[in-house]
Amino acid sequence: MKQNKYDNANFFSAYKKMPRSVKGLEAAGEWHVLRGLMPELRNKTVLDLGCGFGWHCRYAREQQASSVIGVDISENMLQKARENTNDPAISFIKMPIEDIKFTESQFDVVINSLAFHYIKAFKITCQKVYDCLKPGGTFLFSVEHPIFTSRSEQDWYFDEQGNILHWPVDNYQTEGLRKTTFLTENVIKYHRTLSTYINDIIDAGFKIKTVEEPIPSNEMLKSVPEMKDETRRPMFLMISAKKVSTNKGIYWTVPILRAPTISKILFFVTSPIIPNISRLRVLR
Ligand SMILES: C[S@@+](CC[C@H](N)C(=O)[O-])C[C@H]1O[C@@H](n2cnc3c(N)ncnc32)[C@H](O)[C@@H]1O
Repeated sequence: MKQNKYDNANFFSAYKKMPRSVKGLEAAGEWHVLRGLMPELRNKTVLDLGCGFGWHCRYAREQQASSVIGVDISENMLQKARENTNDPAISFIKMPIEDIKFTESQFDVVINSLAFHYIKAFKITCQKVYDCLKPGGTFLFSVEHPIFTSRSEQDWYFDEQGNILHWPVDNYQTEGLRKTTFLTENVIKYHRTLSTYINDIIDAGFKIKTVEEPIPSNEMLKSVPEMKDETRRPMFLMISAKKVSTNKGIYWTVPILRAPTISKILFFVTSPIIPNISRLRVLR
């Protein structure tokens, strides 16, 4: 059963009051970095996974994207997203991210802002994103940082006077479900290590372009004093990756025990020429 916390009345009521829900992208501490990672959107087909109120969908259209599809599991979020636009080039689909089934090479750009830490099936989702992207397409996402998600408490250590001492990290290497608290409600999130995020993307066939651990902009640090704590530990991780080939890799499947020399020669000769379609699979 997939969690749909944003359709919980109490949770949604609190989420609606967050600055980023009221003021939009400019009130999101990480937006200035995510915006910088956005590829050219003009005339591009865009898919926004976990689109929420649709801020990024509308941004994509402002940047002249030809069409945008926003996907979200929450009816509350989608209702607000629909209220916020009458643009016929934006459509919304109620669906869990894990269940997406789009046509192969349908999109130029797939984005996801702060939804992947709610889903268990990250690896398979990367593969689905890869399949629905055109060759040369971009996969860009932000997620709560593994240093942030490692402990269920997801909070600072304080001294007796209530001053922040430090951000504790524990159980980092134990991936999986975290029962945590966000906006007064119990929420389930999924913790993955940094290497899992990176390797799952690479394994799907992507080439990673940029990895960011953003801090708020100087303007936001000046105007919102509490934001200075965001410079003490990374709260967000952002990864931009490119689909470099339609082919997930032509594997040289020469059993290495039987023909180790031939398989190694094939790999080393071809990989500099066709680096994205030549991989060595060792069959034992
Ligand atoms: C923190 S909000 C981010 C919304 C939006 N991307 C933004 O940055 O403003 C997370 C969103 O992910 C959605 N979500 C969570 N789990 C989901 C799932 N399994 N499938 C689809 N959407 C999901 C929630 O309903 C919510 O709208």
